[in-house]
Amino acid sequence: MFHTLVAAPPDPILGLTEAFKKDHNPQKVNLGVGVYKDAAGQTPVLTAVKRAEETLLQAEKTKNYLPIEGHSEFDQATQALLLGSDPAGGSAGRAVTAQAPGGTGALRVAADFIASTLAAPRTVWLSDPTWPNHPNVFQAAGLRTASYPYFDKASNGVAFDAMLSTLESLPEGDVVVLHGCCHNPTGVDLDRAEWQAVAELLCRRHLLPLVDFAYQGFADGIREDAAGLKILMQHCPDLLVASSYSKNFGLYNERVGALTLVAESSSGAAAALSHIKRVIRANYSNPPSHGASVVAAVLTDGELRALWEEEVRAMRGRIQKMRQAFVETLQAKGVDRDFSFIARQRGMFSFSGLTAGQVQALREQHAVYVVGSGRISVAGMTEENMDYLCGAIAAVLAG
Ligand SMILES: Cc1ncc(COP(=O)(O)O)c(C=O)c1O
Repeated sequence: MFHTLVAAPPDPILGLTEAFKKDHNPQKVNLGVGVYKDAAGQTPVLTAVKRAEETLLQAEKTKNYLPIEGHSEFDQATQALLLGSDPAGGSAGRAVTAQAPGGTGALRVAADFIASTLAAPRTVWLSDPTWPNHPNVFQAAGLRTASYPYFDKASNGVAFDAMLSTLESLPEGDVVVLHGCCHNPTGVDLDRAEWQAVAELLCRRHLLPLVDFAYQGFADGIREDAAGLKILMQHCPDLLVASSYSKNFGLYNERVGALTLVAESSSGAAAALSHIKRVIRANYSNPPSHGASVVAAVLTDGELRALWEEEVRAMRGRIQKMRQAFVETLQAKGVDRDFSFIARQRGMFSFSGLTAGQVQALREQHAVYVVGSGRISVAGMTEENMDYLCGAIAAVLAG
């Protein structure tokens, strides 16, 4: 039976990490995967996480199953982090949250919920470009995917008019995936006025927003980055949010995320949660405990929370500093192409504009690993590798 199978292609991003690990060049640089690295090129455990883990280790009394929807303190704290804790903000009773295994798990639960609960057929609209795993996740749930224009190569900004006119033409009931902040792969986000216009359009055209929120805290700040989400919540009767603690808590391998659903009424939200639980039960039954316990402990303890917010601020600050240094070092290396847009973009990623051939030359001649689309993960830059990296890019551009 299995001997007839042809191997599936490697994942374009995780496959790059595998190739990077095998490279013996001591100066190799990995700008592929979106994992935060500190100034020493390490992905450390946050101090707030370590402290919470020490306490939890002593306090934990059972390894009994969690409820299907996960830790209730975690779910409540997540909702407050996303939507604000002030009921006047409009979420009171309208929102429900279920813990999920990472942002990917939350997206897949959302996809299964949409596919199995809402009237078909519904197309899921993804930004062009988007995180390469988005089509996989929605298609695996049996949903059709298509894309709306998002990135404008000429301005390195949002192709906003084209985006709006495509959204305007979608059939009622379709799902529109929006990146909450730090758009992956472009680093280009909607501004406040653009969020308002999109929210108004989605509401008027009865389209369902699904916000993928994997980088809260990496653009302007933890609260500031939820601005678009809050605008959507004010306009849209129904809303889905798939959020992740992989990046902002550094809990990559603990798989911690959540699916939050906002409905027009609390009874609608409760009914929707019953379906989300049905989907989870048929998939992985109930979520893992450790990472969510850590997040709940940090978010609900004043001291640990302040420490975490400071650690997120430091990660954000380092990335912004690297963006600036990258632009300046390229200039110093005599590169005459204008890369100043990279300093204006947000989060871990930017679209560098490097061609597939240049990406290949960087890897083969300089051991600099970049995704084929030219997306660079700024978090892989350090003060130490900046000179080598920019020298390699200058050499490849000079051709
Ligand atoms: C846009 C986007 N969504 C979701 C995810 C998934 O995050 P997680 O590792 O929590 O599954 C990522 C991770 O890279 C991402 O970039």
